[in-house]
Amino acid sequence: MIFEHENVISLKDFEKEDIEFILEEASKLEDVAKSKEKSRELEGKILGLLFYEPSTRTRLSFETSMKRLGGDCIELGDAAHSSVSKGESLADTAKMFESYCDAIVIRHNLEGVSRFLSDIVDVPIINAGDGAGQHPTQTLLDLYTIKKHFGKIDGLKIALLGDLKYGRTVHSLAYALGMYDVEMSFVSPDELKMPKETLHDLEESNIKYNQTNSLKDVIDDVDVLYVTRIQKERFPDVEEYERIKGAYLINKDLLEGKDLIVMHPLPRVDEISYDVDDTKYNKYFEQAANAIPVRMAILKNVITHRFE
Ligand code: CP
Repeated sequence: MIFEHENVISLKDFEKEDIEFILEEASKLEDVAKSKEKSRELEGKILGLLFYEPSTRTRLSFETSMKRLGGDCIELGDAAHSSVSKGESLADTAKMFESYCDAIVIRHNLEGVSRFLSDIVDVPIINAGDGAGQHPTQTLLDLYTIKKHFGKIDGLKIALLGDLKYGRTVHSLAYALGMYDVEMSFVSPDELKMPKETLHDLEESNIKYNQTNSLKDVIDDVDVLYVTRIQKERFPDVEEYERIKGAYLINKDLLEGKDLIVMHPLPRVDEISYDVDDTKYNKYFEQAANAIPVRMAILKNVITHRFE
């Protein structure tokens, strides 16, 4: 099996074998990720970072991953210091990046932007989050974290909690988990349920899920509690956000005696209390660290594929 994707845009484009291949490749890159071993596999190659929305983990972990493999990065940076401030379009900006680098990582507030770019440029496009759409590389590192902890994904009970409407990480994760034999629960306020389109796609593929607005319904019988932030920036009405925010709070008392791990794509705001950080339940910082081997595996395969 080889990873044959030119682009990484949506989990809908992936097969389970593709996911398993990347997870396997990532595990082989652990020593390089931790700088215990050197790699020059992407020496001479340049990654373009095109971030139109804020990011800490995704942007920096892609940069670290590229550099750990001997490659380099260029970055659009703050729009105010690029020609975006003069009105240059995304398409023109991407065209410039195409001639300056070997792959583009794009984050944008509009859903579908990565697909659009993949149609107009010839270098691989990696979706680093498109609005409330998907965040496929986050999903791969989420699955890597689950598999590293449990030694498997099949057979687990996994609850996705919080903003399932606007949270892009849970959208791609739901599609990915649908390829495994897992018990999936969606826990959210009624206003922030998983989009109908995603539920429809899961049903079309005969994938079962539970939906509830009550954390109590799942907390005693779940292996992974995947918590997400309420995405304030995507609410059309700030008053609705104010009404819904703080809908769930995961704290040490709530988790006491439970046999589960807590994951979160981060950043968190107030949905996981800081008293969880020093407990065995906390997997979210390790999850963020796992971005390096997983994004290294993605870059290695996508960029190498281009030159085959
Ligand atoms: N998980 C994630 O996408 O984090 P950033 O927004 O900091 O990149």
